[in-house]
Amino acid sequence: MINTFKSDVQEGLDASPKTLPSKYFYDKKGDALFVEIMNLPEYYLTRSELDIFKNKTQDLIDGVDIKLNSYFELIELGAGDGLKTKELLKELDAQNFKFDYFPIDISSNALELLQKDLNTELPNVSVRPQQGDYFKVLDSLKRSNKPKVILFLGSNIGNMTDEIASQFIYNLGSNLNAGDKLLLGVDLIKAKEIVLPAYNDSRGVTAAFNLNLMTRINNELGANFNINNFKHQPEYNEKDGVAKSFIVSTVNQTVEIKSIGKSYQFLAGEKIRTEISRKYNDVLIEKIIDNTDFTLETKIMDSKEYFADYILTRH
Ligand code: AVJ
Repeated sequence: MINTFKSDVQEGLDASPKTLPSKYFYDKKGDALFVEIMNLPEYYLTRSELDIFKNKTQDLIDGVDIKLNSYFELIELGAGDGLKTKELLKELDAQNFKFDYFPIDISSNALELLQKDLNTELPNVSVRPQQGDYFKVLDSLKRSNKPKVILFLGSNIGNMTDEIASQFIYNLGSNLNAGDKLLLGVDLIKAKEIVLPAYNDSRGVTAAFNLNLMTRINNELGANFNINNFKHQPEYNEKDGVAKSFIVSTVNQTVEIKSIGKSYQFLAGEKIRTEISRKYNDVLIEKIIDNTDFTLETKIMDSKEYFADYILTRH
């Protein structure tokens, strides 16, 4: 882990323009900041998808087309606190569906908390946490041959380029059987007046989340980034539907990263891209799944039509 972190940071900072990968936001501090982000008034994504899971639960259940009496496996990629999924689990339980819930997450801490919470709130639901890499876990679950419903929520796919997203969904398909389902939650393209504040909140939580990446490099790779000489900067191109987060150097400066054995120059105003948060529409989703083994089945939106859960079938 530490070695891929090091080589990923080195590769990103050697590139021109410089980048840093968003997957490293999520250390302990980053996890806590992301929980804060999900509760921000400006960050509509989580609330919008929760609206779907609370108020369109039956549409979700009908959409994944599972028979009451046939057992299935509900597998969530990156379960986190499971807040949205709990709404679905509650209803599946109330309607006596037969299933196991497999939350997959990198964080064993998050999985323990989730299992405890679900065991008290929904004692009848079988929860089988799986810690680790999505595809390793999927490969191990493949053996069961039971019908599967995969959840990939929260517009987490938005951190991938369209090409990588397509590859990712293709790989999911190769771990599934015909008839299995993928429930894909994505943020929809909308006006910048709504999107941009979600990545530039007035309390500065998103700024802290973004800049924490440098603190992490300081702590884990022996760097000397001075956070006061960098600032958070989000951008959103409404036409393309792509939001990007940058860290901008506010002065000319040199930063040493001991474990890489190298110093990096940053010019005043130089931007380091740390994240892309893609927004979608039907055409983009169709294009992304075009070369995969999935067919688009249903689209379920929240009341404001900010967010969509697409249901795809493995053919
Ligand atoms: C968890 C990837 C969906 O891109 O909206 C929140 C992460 N970044 N604020 C997103 C994030 C800045 C989030 N995802």
